[in-house]
Amino acid sequence: MADKLIIFDTTLRDGEQSPGASMTRDAKLRIARQLERLRVDVIEAGFAASSNGDFEAIQLIANTIKDSTVCSLSRANDRDISRAAEALKGANSARIHTFIATSPLHMEKKLRMTPDQVFEQAKQSVKFARNLVGDIEFSPEDGYRSDVDFLCRVLEAVIAEGATTINVPDTVGYAVPELYGNFIKTLRERIPNSDKAIWSVHCHNDLGMAVANSLAGVKIGGARQVECTINGLGERAGNCSLEEVVMAVKTRKDYFGLEMGIDTTHILAASRMVSQTTGFLVQPNKAVVGANAFAHASGIHQDGVLKARDTYEIMRAEDVGWTANKIVLGKLSGRNAFKQRLQELGIQLESESDINAAFSRFKELADRKSEIFDEDILALVSDESITHEKEQYGFVSLSQHSETGERPHASIVFTVDGKEVKGESDGNGPVDASLKSIESHVKSGAEMILYSVNAISGSTESQGEVTVRLQSGGRVVNGIGADPDIVVASAKAYLSALNRLHSKADSVAAQG
Ligand code: KIV
Ligand code: ZN
Repeated sequence: MADKLIIFDTTLRDGEQSPGASMTRDAKLRIARQLERLRVDVIEAGFAASSNGDFEAIQLIANTIKDSTVCSLSRANDRDISRAAEALKGANSARIHTFIATSPLHMEKKLRMTPDQVFEQAKQSVKFARNLVGDIEFSPEDGYRSDVDFLCRVLEAVIAEGATTINVPDTVGYAVPELYGNFIKTLRERIPNSDKAIWSVHCHNDLGMAVANSLAGVKIGGARQVECTINGLGERAGNCSLEEVVMAVKTRKDYFGLEMGIDTTHILAASRMVSQTTGFLVQPNKAVVGANAFAHASGIHQDGVLKARDTYEIMRAEDVGWTANKIVLGKLSGRNAFKQRLQELGIQLESESDINAAFSRFKELADRKSEIFDEDILALVSDESITHEKEQYGFVSLSQHSETGERPHASIVFTVDGKEVKGESDGNGPVDASLKSIESHVKSGAEMILYSVNAISGSTESQGEVTVRLQSGGRVVNGIGADPDIVVASAKAYLSALNRLHSKADSVAAQG
């Protein structure tokens, strides 16, 4: 059999740990479906014991996804592991991923445990998990900063207890490629039963080297699983980016000599879905999925590409899902065409009434905007009022006045628990006045730490997609709103952020 590289996607778990990136159950299912379409081998769907919401999302994904293994993270204790196994019950193929920190710093300061206690707990947990599920992954958290002798001792023991995958996290993004690759190599060489497990790499991007480190772990270390996220989403500087690692292995097959099961033509759609769901925009010069990734501005380059594409292009844009913006639907499109496009985009709305609600939003949009692109449809169905997320606040209407030399003024009507209320305010600009008019009524006191506008499909005719990030009481949330009118999009984004701020999502940090 060809030497295969397993792609383990953790967008829904490690990616979601990024402040403000928390996703609803329905959004997670939508992304999981896209990951299945992408043919990722393993989907880490969440951390079952962290909250009821995460448990339910994992359960839903486990019951729905057929072609990828569905995995839940779990701390190394019986309660977490049982909860993970319970959530995964309906899966065709299930994996429990259990972890405990092994670095001196984490053991002493965070866990307040001795190395012997950590050793015993790791061993017992894998033994316990193995009785519930056959496919067990073990991670020594902060593995790269752990003492190599101690790590060898722990990993040998957990493999003996039945761990089938050993993942070596560079939890804090401290590694450099050559050293990390050699670290994996050393572990595999020194641990007598290392060949009984698949070795995996999990790199964070604090020094911008997550992809390079992961690839070194594969090439030098012999790892055969890479843990990664769409768009490199993740805490701090993020995780290893799936699209970059996959396209590196594919484009440089001459060097890596590895097979993967990934259908790369779904990469761009996955990237857009994750960015639209979380509000974490993709920088234009991002490799593979950035808007400029295949754009040639210089005359010499354009000329070269027209003559022979491989003069300046090492990948084909269409291989990762880039096509010219397609007008998919318009004003005259009917409900069936709309429903079919939703299916093609992997969007499954729960009921006929959800489809009707989405279709009527589509019609409203098509009245104002003649060309409707896939991005518009994705933005439309991310709208919380369609996807049945509980919403305390809902947008109704907005009027604002701005004129050179005058202070802008806005007045807004929105719903609070279904009841219409009105707010009014001046502001530095029309957006500022609109958001202040909401705040004049809500009085959330939240601090805005990010405001950004993006044209969904490129031109000024496109919808504006606004992300608002609010911070309050130690929580950070993102709200997203889309509309051809960017002031309205801003108001929708602000209300969406308030909805998230006020939702009672309880969660335990995976690395806590
Ligand atoms: O970065 C890390 O150490 C992790 C583990 C929980 C696998 O995400
Ligand atoms: Zn991580």
